[in-house]
Amino acid sequence: MKGIILAAGSGSRLYPASLPISKILLPVYDKPMIYYPITTLLLAGIKDILIITSPYDLDNFKRLLGDGTQLGVKFSYAIQEVPRGIADSFIIAKNYIGQDSVALILGDNIFHGFGFSSMLKEVAKRKKGATVFGYQVQDPDRFGVVEFDKNNNAISIEEKPKNPKSNYAITGLYFYDNKVVEYAKTLKPSFRGELEITDLNKIYLKKNDLSVEILGRGFAWLDTGTFESLLQAANFVQSMEVNTGMKIAAIEEVSYRMGNIASWELVQLAQKYKQNGYGKYLEKVAGNL
Ligand code: DAU
Repeated sequence: MKGIILAAGSGSRLYPASLPISKILLPVYDKPMIYYPITTLLLAGIKDILIITSPYDLDNFKRLLGDGTQLGVKFSYAIQEVPRGIADSFIIAKNYIGQDSVALILGDNIFHGFGFSSMLKEVAKRKKGATVFGYQVQDPDRFGVVEFDKNNNAISIEEKPKNPKSNYAITGLYFYDNKVVEYAKTLKPSFRGELEITDLNKIYLKKNDLSVEILGRGFAWLDTGTFESLLQAANFVQSMEVNTGMKIAAIEEVSYRMGNIASWELVQLAQKYKQNGYGKYLEKVAGNL
C-alpha cells in the first residue's frame, strides 16, 4: 500500500505565521506538524509515502525529511501548483500509485488514541473498497458529514452541510483500493472550484463499497486550522508528553518500533538532537541511556 500526505494548501488562515513557510511545517509543540500524519501512515505499516507540496515549500520539506532512508522508508515528492482540491491528489499521484491501494492523509490532521495502531493495521489489510473515519464533533457544518441508519451503516455524506444530518465529521484520513484513480478522473470541480474528496467518497458509498470506522470517546482528532486550535493542539501534546514521559509522533521512535530501523540507527538519529530532550528521549527509547 502507498501513502500520500497532502501538504500543499496556502494555510492563509494562519497568516502571517504561515506566510514564509507551509503551515504543515509549523511546530505543534516540539515537532513539525507533518510528523503527526507521517506517524499515522507509519503505524498503518506504510513505508512508501508521497508528499504533495506547493512549489514554494518543496525544498523545505526535502530539507526536513530527505528521501526517508534514515527512517527505513521511502519519501517521494510531488507538486500541486494550485489547490485544486483534495481529490486532485489521486490525479497528481496516478503514476506513483500504479496498481497499488493507497491511504491519503491531510497534512494538518492529528490523530491520537488508544488502539489506533491496530485499527490502522486492520484497515490497511482490506483489499476492496474505501474506508473513512467518523468522529463526533460539536460543529459538523465545518466538515464532511456522514449520516448513519439504525444499524450504523453509512447512508449519506455531505460536504459542509448547512443542516448536518449527524454530528459525525469525516476526518482527513482515507483508505482506498486502486479504483480511486479511475474514480478521481471522473470528478467535476465543485462550486468552490475543487475536486472534492466527499464526491469521491460518495461514489464508493453508492457502490456499497464504503466503510466508516468510528473513532470513539477518548480519542483525539485535533484541529490546527486556527491560531486557537493550533495552540490547543500543542498544549494537548505537551500535556500528554509530560504526563506519560512518552512522545507523540516522534517519527524516529515510530520507525524503530515498527521495525523499519535498528536501535543503533535510532541512536545515530538521536545525535542530531542530543542538546535537547527530543534527542535524549530517542536515546532512551533505543536503550542507550
Ligand atoms: O479535516 C477533515 C476535512 O477536510 C473533511 O471533513 C472534509 O470533508 C474535507 O473537505 C476537508 O475539509 P477542509 O475544509 O478542512 O479542507 P481544506 O480545504 O482546509 O484542506 C485541508 C488540508 O489540505 C489543508 O491543510 C490544505 C490541504 N489542501 C487542500 C486543498 C483543497 C491542499 O494541499 N490542496 C488542496 O487543493
